[in-house]
Amino acid sequence: MNSKLYLFVGFIVGNIITFPITGFSGNTSEQNTAQDIYEGSCAACHGQDGEGEFPGVPDFSVQTGLLTKPYPTLLKNILEGYESSNSSMAMPPRGGNPDLSEKEIEQSLDYLINRFVTTEKKQ
Ligand code: HEC
Repeated sequence: MNSKLYLFVGFIVGNIITFPITGFSGNTSEQNTAQDIYEGSCAACHGQDGEGEFPGVPDFSVQTGLLTKPYPTLLKNILEGYESSNSSMAMPPRGGNPDLSEKEIEQSLDYLINRFVTTEKKQ
């Protein structure tokens, strides 16, 4: 197991263990910050579990292929807004929250990728 993968697994396991205890407060690790951003600005449409709250919102728990698109493409689609052909709903720029910085968008995107893209599919 390479060290990067080991770190990643440790991150996830650590979060699973600490999350029920610490919740959102008092924990300033980057992963929780990313989760806060996701829950605050993305989960309204994408759902706590990434399954999509409305028709037209992708289910990341099964459509993980969307998250393996090139990173700059995904980032641009979130920053500028995105609607694929034949879609019943568009994503507004920055998920509709203009206060989000590009860095925060990256963190929320990383959160999705870390959570839903299996380690074998990552470079
Ligand atoms: C207002 C609802 C809404 C919010 C809020 C929202 N999204 Fe989306 N998102 C969508 C919809 C709808 C799609 C699918 C659009 C399509 O395929 O036409 C989508 C698609 C995506 C995709 C796939 C893009 C692609 O290229 O296929 C990613 C990644 C994503 N959202 C991440 C995020 C992140 C991260 C946030 C928070 C910063 C966020 N979304 C906030 C509605 C939303």
